[in-house]
Amino acid sequence: MHKERLFAGKKCSTGPGMRMVWLVLCLMIPVLMHAATGKGSTPAAKSQAAAASAPGDFVGQETCATCHEEAAKGFASNPHTKLAEMHGKSGATCESCHGAGKAHVDGGGDVAKIFNPAKASAKEIDARCLSCHQGQHANFERTAHGENNVSCISCHSVHHSATPEKLLKVEQPKLCFQCHSDTKSQFNMPFHHKVEEGLMKCTDCHDAHGTFNRKNLRASAQMDAVCTKCHSETAGPFTYEHFVVKTEGCTACHFAHGGPNPRLLNRANVNTICLQCHSPSPNFTTGGLPSGPAHNQATQYQACTMCHTSIHGSNTSHVFFNIAQ
Ligand code: HEC
Ligand code: HEC
Ligand code: HEC
Ligand code: HEC
Ligand code: HEC
Ligand code: HEC
Ligand code: HEC
Ligand code: HEC
Ligand code: HEC
Ligand code: HEC
Repeated sequence: MHKERLFAGKKCSTGPGMRMVWLVLCLMIPVLMHAATGKGSTPAAKSQAAAASAPGDFVGQETCATCHEEAAKGFASNPHTKLAEMHGKSGATCESCHGAGKAHVDGGGDVAKIFNPAKASAKEIDARCLSCHQGQHANFERTAHGENNVSCISCHSVHHSATPEKLLKVEQPKLCFQCHSDTKSQFNMPFHHKVEEGLMKCTDCHDAHGTFNRKNLRASAQMDAVCTKCHSETAGPFTYEHFVVKTEGCTACHFAHGGPNPRLLNRANVNTICLQCHSPSPNFTTGGLPSGPAHNQATQYQACTMCHTSIHGSNTSHVFFNIAQ
């Protein structure tokens, strides 16, 4: 199953004419992965991690273990073997990532003859990891992370991860704060989303590997703003939409991370937010229903939301009053 997930991107990105070819290739993946263990030795093993190697160049994980006991011992519980073994013993082995190891072994552990991601460029590392994870993270190189040489192993550690799941180098949010220290101060403001308290994660809103939205933002299942995934009551659809919610998004009025104002409002005074777009004319017409105090000078110091309570939209009032249906 996991192989279908890993390679889903390739399956979907082809036209009908190529489908058969890809289907055949995808069916071969278990074979390819098995071959990379070194037990199988079909020529197809070449197309896995170590492109230029012949089958005989692979020595197999057991051989690596004779000298790298520590790395090999830990690896039994690594998702790369554990999860994958549950799906037909076709997991990644040492040589899937480090390349064929015969020359390294014959050289008595010649470090020049083995691929060590810790010493490689960001692009080389990403290419190695993406040789299997392309289907999940196809757009990585086009993200701010990929473009700025933040590589897979800036965030992940295969051998020394701090989290049993997802192989993270350091747990969230500490991981992200290592590089985004300016963001940390926003989460220390009086009003903030409780990320540091562990109630939610950076990756509830962002996908570090990229999305189709700006700032690596995720979307709700309905492709609305990510915020409505949790605050579904603001999403509508409403009979009377406050259009700005849809057109400008939640951050027209709210801070996403944290700020000095209650309700994460991006201005200390709610009226200042509204008056950016609505003129403070004292001559607003009441237009019939519902009646009530209009916008005269006596009410200008009241918060607009005293009366316009259903500010995200309403099914009963075109001016967002709170009227029972
Ligand atoms: C005969 C013993 C031996 C075997 C077998 C062996 N290695 Fe090594 N390996 C070494 C020695 C010695 C070093 C260098 C010492 C060190 O840095 O730990 C090394 C270093 C490494 C490094 C780090 C390279 C660097 O640039 O620092 C990697 C990665 C590695 N080995 C992977 C493997 C893999 C994968 C296999 C199996 C294909 C393997 N080794 C098999 C002895 C061996
Ligand atoms: C999924 C990819 C992957 C697999 C599979 C893998 N490694 Fe590594 N290995 C890495 C990465 C990435 C590094 C660089 C350091 C790090 O990120 O932990 C590394 C570093 C090393 C090093 C250098 C010393 C160190 O710990 O930094 C050795 C030795 C090593 N691996 C041996 C092995 C052996 C032996 C196996 C099989 C039991 C193995 N690796 C399987 C990705 C992998
Ligand atoms: C030979 C193919 C292959 C290579 C190369 C490979 N992986 Fe994986 N990876 C897998 C498989 C198989 C799984 C387990 C199945 C799954 O989660 O879909 C996995 C799982 C993972 C997971 C998820 C663990 C979890 O708990 O969900 C992470 C993170 C990961 N790999 C990172 C990396 C990184 C970083 C590299 C490069 C250093 C890399 N992988 C290289 C095949 C590979
Ligand atoms: C900026 C940090 C960062 C970078 C760079 C990064 N990842 Fe991740 N990755 C994460 C985090 C955080 C998670 C866990 C997400 C969660 O728990 O919701 C994750 C999860 C994963 C998973 C598990 C599946 C999933 O999407 O949850 C895989 C596989 C993976 N990463 C592979 C990679 C590969 C391959 C690369 C390089 C092409 C990479 N990652 C680069 C931070 C990063
Ligand atoms: C190794 C350093 C590093 C780590 C760790 C890191 N980032 Fe980044 N991140 C960067 C760099 C560099 C940029 C691009 C320059 C910038 O915008 O600051 C960036 C940009 C971003 C952006 C802006 C994207 C855009 O399109 O402008 C977001 C959002 C982001 N990172 C989220 C995260 C999250 C969430 C985590 C933790 C899972 C994380 N980062 C971990 C280095 C890192
Ligand atoms: C509640 C959702 C949410 C959470 C949780 C969240 N973010 Fe954001 N983040 C956003 C939104 C929305 C933006 C875009 C803000 C804007 O456009 O004004 C953003 C922007 C960013 C940026 C780009 C800032 C810039 O000025 O370009 C970075 C970096 C970032 N977030 C990192 C993080 C980190 C690190 C965490 C966890 C500590 C985190 N975010 C948690 C929603 C979130
Ligand atoms: C993963 C779920 C989740 C996501 C996504 C999310 N929030 Fe929240 N939000 C919460 C939770 C939980 C609280 C209450 C936290 C607390 O008690 O401080 C909250 C509180 C708020 C509050 C303050 C409510 C009050 O009564 O004071 C506002 C405003 C808010 N979020 C706006 C946003 C915006 C804007 C976004 C998108 C950028 C967003 N949220 C994304 C879970 C989420
Ligand atoms: C036009 C400005 C504006 C926009 C756009 C906006 N909000 Fe609000 N929101 C407010 C105001 C003002 C309040 C405070 C209402 C009060 O004090 O009674 C508020 C309150 C909230 C609250 C606290 C609970 C509540 O309903 O009073 C949440 C949660 C919230 N907004 C989420 C969101 C989300 C999610 C979005 C995007 C889908 C969004 N807001 C878009 C102005 C806005
Ligand atoms: C970023 C611009 C923007 C902000 C900020 C904003 N609005 Fe609006 N608002 C609009 C737009 C655009 C419309 C739709 C106007 C129309 O239909 O003629 C609208 C419509 C309304 C309406 C309904 C008007 C009608 O005739 O049906 C009310 C009431 C309203 N807004 C109140 C508020 C209040 C109160 C705030 C502050 C909490 C606020 N708005 C903040 C842009 C904004
Ligand atoms: C004391 C209650 C009250 C307060 C406070 C209030 N409004 Fe109103 N608002 C009304 C009433 C009543 C109407 C007319 C309703 C109707 O036409 O049915 C109205 C209508 C509107 C309309 C629709 C325009 C139109 O011509 O019908 C907008 C926009 C609006 N208000 C914005 C604001 C803004 C911005 C603030 C804060 C500066 C604010 N209101 C404060 C009661 C209030």
